[in-house]
Amino acid sequence: MQPCVAFGSLCNSMSSNGYVIDVHDVHKTYKKRIKALQGVDLQVGSGEIFGLLGPNGAGKSTLVKILMTVVRPDKIGGTFLGASVGQKEPLSKVGYLPEHHHFPGYLTGLQVIEFSGAMCGMPKRERRANAGKLLDRVGMTRWGSSRLNSYSKGMLQRVGLAQALVNDPKVVLLDEPTDGVDPVGRREIRDLLLELRDEGHSIFLNSHLLSELEMVCDRVAIMVQGRVSMQGTIDELTKDSKRYEIQVLGPCPAWIESHPDASVETVEAEARISIATDDPEAIQPIIDRLRNEGRSITRVHAVRDSLEELFMRAVVDESGNVAAPGAQIESRRGSGGDAP
Ligand SMILES: Nc1ncnc2c1ncn2[C@@H]1O[C@H](COP(=O)(O)OP(=O)(O)O)[C@@H](O)[C@H]1O
Ligand SMILES: [Mg+2]
Repeated sequence: MQPCVAFGSLCNSMSSNGYVIDVHDVHKTYKKRIKALQGVDLQVGSGEIFGLLGPNGAGKSTLVKILMTVVRPDKIGGTFLGASVGQKEPLSKVGYLPEHHHFPGYLTGLQVIEFSGAMCGMPKRERRANAGKLLDRVGMTRWGSSRLNSYSKGMLQRVGLAQALVNDPKVVLLDEPTDGVDPVGRREIRDLLLELRDEGHSIFLNSHLLSELEMVCDRVAIMVQGRVSMQGTIDELTKDSKRYEIQVLGPCPAWIESHPDASVETVEAEARISIATDDPEAIQPIIDRLRNEGRSITRVHAVRDSLEELFMRAVVDESGNVAAPGAQIESRRGSGGDAP
């Protein structure tokens, strides 16, 4: 639920380099042996939708909880909204939808949002009107007076999202916001995130749903076993995989094998020629030669790796082993008790 955050003013809500979140070397070990975060570096720009992607147990929620001061890191450098991580003051400008949130089932949707408004110090007379507007925004007006225990998972997520927006936050941290939401609802949430970005909010989104992130995020980071293995725009991360594929009927022409950037596979009655380049001019001589030889070209298209392919590259090591889900656990006897 929305943390108790008082409205306060921040002289500077960004680090000097324009990031709303700029953290370095974040470490967190639970119970002295579960290495949830092992030196995370991550930057989120102002006004962007940033997606943190990773398998279950990668450490995504731990990082968000550290930002929200719910979990204490062993070590952290950098800033959140211009202040050192751990300070409460920036949280007045933050909206938070925790993973697996449990709002009391006897409350109505309207009451949950009003309660969050009260936690933020919003005057009573403004709370009801604000809650109504937010319910409308997440498409829940009709159910505002129904109790949460009659809601579906998707409806709960929408109300959760509405309460995260109650203080008109500068940064919205959403931990698996589309968890349990049906495809129509997921699309509506995606549209809402785009709207929020266009209004100037910065959005940090945790998800294990690759296609969700691919559709809305300006930048993504992939986290595996407590480390960020890559981050950037999807375009930057997939740049090296850009290629053209030319499909022709019949066998593969022998001459293509000597092309330095070509690879070929035969699928049924077709040869699929892949040329590692993003320059359309570079493939014209190949198309000309195929046409001169009377070959039927069935398709020419530009391709690049999807986020899923990128993700698989991040979780599969050089020997082809898939990283085990979850954190690295040091095997030793005994355990401490520093769970939050
Ligand atoms: N309170 C806790 N006590 C002990 N281990 C925890 C606790 N919270 C998370 N973990 C462990 O830390 C690792 C990272 O968890 P989490 O941050 O929830 O990952 P994700 O959100 O990517 O699924 C997992 O191995 C998880 O079991
Ligand atoms: Mg999580």
